Amino acid sequence: MNMQIVSHVPLAPKVWQMELTGPLTYNTVEPGQFLQVLVGDGQTHVLRRPISIGYADPVAERLTMVYKIVGQGTSELSQLAAGDTVDVLGPLGQGYPLPQRSEDVLIIGGGLGVPPLRQLAATLHQQGHRVHVVLGWAEAADVFWLEHFASAAQNVVVTTDDGSFGVHGTVMDGVKQLSSAVQRVYACGPKPMLRSVQRWAAGVGIPAWISLEERMACGVGACTGCVCQTKAGMRRVCADGPVLPADEVIL
Ligand SMILES: Cc1cc2nc3c(=O)[nH]c(=O)nc-3n(C[C@H](O)[C@H](O)[C@H](O)COP(=O)(O)OP(=O)(O)OC[C@H]3O[C@@H](n4cnc5c(N)ncnc54)[C@H](O)[C@@H]3O)c2cc1C
Ligand code: FES
Repeated sequence: MNMQIVSHVPLAPKVWQMELTGPLTYNTVEPGQFLQVLVGDGQTHVLRRPISIGYADPVAERLTMVYKIVGQGTSELSQLAAGDTVDVLGPLGQGYPLPQRSEDVLIIGGGLGVPPLRQLAATLHQQGHRVHVVLGWAEAADVFWLEHFASAAQNVVVTTDDGSFGVHGTVMDGVKQLSSAVQRVYACGPKPMLRSVQRWAAGVGIPAWISLEERMACGVGACTGCVCQTKAGMRRVCADGPVLPADEVIL
């Protein structure tokens, strides 16, 4: 499906926010789902690049993604301007399962794992849950989207590795600052962070869901190019995930 770029702006060093509009079913997007984005006409980069849906607005009919330039595909993507079109597949994958009854929930995000958690925080807030957020980055210059989390959460704790913004340390140091008891945990971020969340959640006995990243090919469950190991065997991150129960995944 072709979507048009409405705006494309830098948010932090090497990090861009792209806002798209087009024929997407915005109100069926589950927090945690992603798009498979074609770079150029697909001749040079045959494989689409998976990028999380940061926020889908059914009223304005806009979808926002945030990505970091890490290689050729994302570098080419950053050359596009408002008015250009992007070929995307999606929404894809299984998102975060939402609580059925009112709960205190903890959202933990790290770096480029933060974007899909915006939609999650907004949805949980709309559904009447109490949302507590801990977000971590390397340094102050990397921090983005705090205002979106502040408008959905009871409290937002920010951590930076170098102490240049918020709490000095990792997201797990941020979790120690929270005073409320929580009934479930949702996380997205780099693997070492997910391991810490997994260990901590298991230790305190709180159910947790984590979003995984693997390199992807088809993005729709057909090629098994993105499998991860779980206690129940191999799972395809693109179709069975990217969100999976933390106590099942072997990281
Ligand atoms: C479900 C999912 C959601 C994602 N959401 C986001 C997002 O919201 N924002 C964002 O910035 N990135 C996200 N990513 C990662 C993003 O897909 C990669 O950064 C991107 O594909 C790199 O493309 P490239 O051509 O620029 O880099 P390449 O030249 O392909 O690779 C450059 C570097 O990036 C690493 N890389 C490539 N693909 C992945 C991948 N899928 N996962 C982890 N590392 C990778 C490579 O190992 C290499 O070190 C997501 C990945 C998945 C699987
Ligand atoms: S990328 Fe093909 S099965 Fe996941």
